[in-house]
Amino acid sequence: MPRYFIWTIGCQMNKAESQQIAGYLDSAGYQAATSFSHADLVVLNTCVVRKSAENKVLGTLNLLKGLKNEHPNLQILVTGCLVNSDSQEVKRRFPHVDLLFKPGDYPELIAWGQKQGILIEQRLLRYPRNDGWIAPSPCALIPIIQGCDNFCSYCIVPYRRGREVSRPLEEIVCEVEELARRGIKEVTLLGQNVDSYGHDLPGHPDLADLLNELSSIDNLARIRFLTNHPKDISLKLIETMASLSKVCEHLELPVQSGDNDILKAMRRGYSVEQYRELVHTVRRKVPQISLSTDIIVGFPGETEEQFEHSLSLAQEMKFDVVHLAAYSPRSGTIAWQEYQDNIPAEVKKERLNKIEELQTAIASKINSHLQGKQVEVLVEGRKKGKWFGRTRSNKLVFFEDAGDWLGQLARVRIEKTSPWSLGGEVKKIIN
Ligand code: SAH
Ligand code: SF4
Ligand code: F3S
Repeated sequence: MPRYFIWTIGCQMNKAESQQIAGYLDSAGYQAATSFSHADLVVLNTCVVRKSAENKVLGTLNLLKGLKNEHPNLQILVTGCLVNSDSQEVKRRFPHVDLLFKPGDYPELIAWGQKQGILIEQRLLRYPRNDGWIAPSPCALIPIIQGCDNFCSYCIVPYRRGREVSRPLEEIVCEVEELARRGIKEVTLLGQNVDSYGHDLPGHPDLADLLNELSSIDNLARIRFLTNHPKDISLKLIETMASLSKVCEHLELPVQSGDNDILKAMRRGYSVEQYRELVHTVRRKVPQISLSTDIIVGFPGETEEQFEHSLSLAQEMKFDVVHLAAYSPRSGTIAWQEYQDNIPAEVKKERLNKIEELQTAIASKINSHLQGKQVEVLVEGRKKGKWFGRTRSNKLVFFEDAGDWLGQLARVRIEKTSPWSLGGEVKKIIN
């Protein structure tokens, strides 16, 4: 049997798309391999959100050039955000690539497969992810809206993934019903901005409507979604979260900066005051909420004082998790056209370190309050002899036990805490 290997970097959307590609290849009679060198066909699912990600992709493409020289029959497919409408440049630099297809362009993949005599089942197109690959994990990633209409000044995503397109509500409900029948316990609904879901569909259903529908699916235990946008998240959604027991108490609410002038230059569409008010509303309505955010340091022109505003906002908000990034100019974006990347790399690094240090202390304290408490963990798999899974608040928990816990909801008593994960002793299965 021929073998495939899929290499994925980037966001959850890329992970979801790699799962779907695996589904197509499985149905074409391929088997998963454990590394590039064991594969007859490799797929690179790429990210270009920052220069560092793009460099990793280019490095891997170079590595594959060598591999193809040794094994001329190796087929190399590239998808993800490196691929744009004009990929001539990539084709010229990497002639050893057999196919470039845009994120989610499965018809292109299938057409190529047919030309090669690889039968990839067409039928999968109508019900994406219903058939084919089902992860051995009880958690599924479900894209609900593609693309982004926001054009934050620093961000390349809208140029690579195009405008927003929502999937029909009934199609998503059907898919999740099928997954739940097959044993999936948790779904994470994905979009660059899930708050835009449905605006382009007949009748304009929104994310809250979708959550209501999904909540009535038997055997589905948990529902998550990401990413929200502070300018778009609605009171209706927050109240729906509060009222539906399957919707987990976890929000990804990227703030990006704690300074109003920087937020304006980023074109984020809200002020620090509005963000703070929003967080207060969320905490009032959903008291158990666990909050994650994204912060960019070293945006063009960011003064020490403006950076301090991000630091003090992080101090004040006490996020559970902060995803940090140093500003990276991306060609074609508004910030790339209008501003100089004038904050030196050492200063960016220093600012990253300062927030990281603060956040480690905050997360350490938040997690230490879980010591001795019992939490519900959905067990996703095993690593280094320990079971692991996540709490409803998205905290990673490890425990040791001889039984088979995969896919079970376990009650775990927390005995060890750190800023990044928790350790405990399993008590019993929850049904
Ligand atoms: N749609 C989401 C996430 C998009 S990209 C949102 O609206 O937040 C994921 C994260 O990468 C962003 O939140 C941002 O913090 C970071 N990012 C995007 N472009 C960047 C750039 N040019 N330089 C540094 N970080 C960037
Ligand atoms: Fe990028 Fe902004 Fe869209 Fe997020 S909302 S993907 S940061 S443009
Ligand atoms: Fe990267 Fe594209 Fe996601 S640039 S972060 S893979 S949308």
